Parts: sequence; structure tokens; C-alpha cells
Amino acid sequence: MSNTTDHDGTLDLQRRHVLATYGAAELMLVRGEGVRVWDSQGRCYLDFSAGIGVCNLGHCHPRVTAALQAQAGKLVHVSNLFYNENQPRLAALIARHSFGGRVFFCNSGAEANEGLIKFARKWGHDQGRYEILCMQDSFHGRTLATLAATGREKYRKGFSPDMPGFRFVPFNDLAALEAAVRPETAAVLLEPVQGEGGVIPAKADYLKGVRDLCDRRNLLLLFDEVQCGMGRTGTCFAHQQYGVEPDGMSMAKALGNGVPMGAFEVQARYDQVLTAGTHASTFGGTPLACAAGIAVFEAFDQDGVLENCRAMGRLLRERLEGLGRKHGVVREVRGLGLMIGADLTVPVKDILSRCRERGLLVLSAGETVLRLLPPLIVRPDEIAAAVDIIDAAMAEAAAAAR
Ligand SMILES: Cc1ncc(COP(=O)(O)O)c(C=O)c1O
Repeated sequence: MSNTTDHDGTLDLQRRHVLATYGAAELMLVRGEGVRVWDSQGRCYLDFSAGIGVCNLGHCHPRVTAALQAQAGKLVHVSNLFYNENQPRLAALIARHSFGGRVFFCNSGAEANEGLIKFARKWGHDQGRYEILCMQDSFHGRTLATLAATGREKYRKGFSPDMPGFRFVPFNDLAALEAAVRPETAAVLLEPVQGEGGVIPAKADYLKGVRDLCDRRNLLLLFDEVQCGMGRTGTCFAHQQYGVEPDGMSMAKALGNGVPMGAFEVQARYDQVLTAGTHASTFGGTPLACAAGIAVFEAFDQDGVLENCRAMGRLLRERLEGLGRKHGVVREVRGLGLMIGADLTVPVKDILSRCRERGLLVLSAGETVLRLLPPLIVRPDEIAAAVDIIDAAMAEAAAAAR
């Protein structure tokens, strides 16, 4: 946090009392509105990270804020030993916007994936099937089971032994997946668009092929839509653009537009796999969090959010491709909707810091991919302002590389 003056001792408290498990967080952000955030010095930034794809409606969206304020004064929490009026309403909205399944609520993406993993194990248990085939370069979370399902060594390093029951195959390679299936295999788990792995969409015929393989070999197909779901790719869930349905799917991040929550949904025909007493979460589906989720779906249905995402996604991609031609530092621009990656020939770290200095927050994915996840409500003038900043950052980076 070298750029930030410690006016009131907050940074000192951070350094002395918070475990430093995150990389350099050089800004103290204190306020947000729409596509903008402000730091403790009053400096404004365009936020094209949206909290790593969390605030898909932008910061402090009026619908979400109003729903939270009303619910906070009415009932914040009840245990799942009782019903609350928001949980079934949100479950119905998720079902209506996806494949009409049954929903379990939890608090994060990792926890949602843990639930899917438990679902698959319970389903396969009586036949001695437990193994889940996962993808190289995938990311599913930081708990022990989701780490074991994550196809990147660097996240697991130092936490061995890995939880057993997971094996990896290359993403977008149907033949490799088919060859990996063995009698103990119960499920296939993948992100329809890999996020942390470099913003890599599944190929159209690949997902269809995986669905067909799972049907032929009696395997569950599980999608992790924690990052690519909730409108990010221009449809409510990314898999809807591929014309395939999973047996189960996880979601989190943008589900509460910043209020911590996660969920997984399984097809209604599997409603007897996880029965009373087999899975639980103290905070899952609390009335406060579900009020936020309901407001998010209302915005999708009534405010043209997904249409805007598709149009702005096309615009941003075109503009980035233009920058690629201009500076010669972009290998490829890829993605779906407003989940966009630009694979660079220069270190992405440099671009991130150069953008930040100019008032734009962006993300990386790996060492070379510039990842852009702006709020889905972003306007053309905000895209133009962000692209101007990336333009300047790329010009400097290209000059430095010469
Ligand atoms: C695809 C995917 N799955 C799971 C997770 C983990 O979510 P959380 O950090 O909420 O546990 C992430 C987080 O980035 C993710 O991108």
C-alpha cells in the first residue's frame, strides 16, 4: 500500500492484524457507485474488475441497496431449521433462469463447488464411483476439496497430501476426456469459460461432445459458473450459449452483487441424492443475502442488463482488437460477453500498474492475460475512457519492451 497515505492509522492496523495472504493491495477503496470507485485520497477509478466479477450490476446498485436496506430492518437471519420468505423466491428465480432444478444456498464459490463434489460422491457412492475428472488450468476454489479439483499445481503447493478422487485432462480435448474415464469415474467438472486459467471459452462442439459422453457413460456433468455465470457472458449462464444442460451447476460471485453468497443447482431428477441431514450451511440462504439475489434477477429481467452486456462486450472486444493491431503487443483477444481476455506479449503486471496510475482498475489471469470484467451496466463512454487508458498503457509497455 505504498501509494496510500496512512491518514488515520488504518493501514497500520491492516499490516499488524490482517494475515497478508493477498498480493500487493496498493489502494484503500472507500466508496463505489456504478462503474466507479474512490480511494481514501478521494481519487476516482473506473472499475473494470467489478471485484473480480462480483459487482455485475456495478457498485451499490440502487435496486440491491434498497432491497438490503429494507430487509436489514426486517429480518437479517434465520436458521435453516425454519423457512424464510426470500430463499424459495430466489431459488425459483435461479430455476426459471436456468434449467428448472433444485437449489442449495451457501456463502462462496468454493463452498458451492464443495457441495457439487459432495453431490457427485453421494450419487456415485453405492456403485463405488467417486472420481471427478477436472480440467488442466481450471480454478474451483481454495478449500481442500476444491484445491484438489483445481488444475494448477501452484495453488496446491505446500498443502499436500491432495484430497484423493480428482484427475486432470486438457480442456477442450474430448478424446483425452473420453480416454480418462474409468469404472470409478462419477463426474466431469469444468468451467464453460475458464476464468483464472486465462479467459478460455469452451469450444462449441466440445461442450456438446462432453454432454454426449456423459450420457453414454452415465457420468454427471457439472459446470462451475462461479465466474462466467450470472450474466457475465451475456446470457444468465454461459452454458446457455452452447445448447447443453449440466446435471449440476455452481454459482456465487455476482449472485448477490457483492453480498457474499453462493449456490448450487441440480436437475430436479436428482432431488433425492442430497436429503435431510446430508448437507448444511449455517448462513446459507439467509433472508438478507437472498434479498440481494432477488434484486439482481429483477435487474436482469427489467433493466436490459444482458442486452447491454452483449452490446458492450462486442464494442470492448472490437476496441481491444484495434489496440492489438496498433501496438503489436496482443496475441489474441477472446472471451464471451463482458468476460474478455487479451493475451499479451508483454508482462501483464506492467499493464495493470500503468492502468491503475491512470485511474483504471483491471485484472490479470496468469502472467500474460489482461482480464476485463467491467460491470454489465457499463456505457459506451466508459468503455471509450477505459480503452484510452489501456491504449496509453500498451504504448508505454511496447516502448519499454523495444
Ligand atoms: C470459476 C471459479 N470457481 C470458484 C471460485 C472460488 O470462489 P470463492 O472465492 O467465492 O470461493 C472462483 C473464484 O475466483 C472461480 O473463478
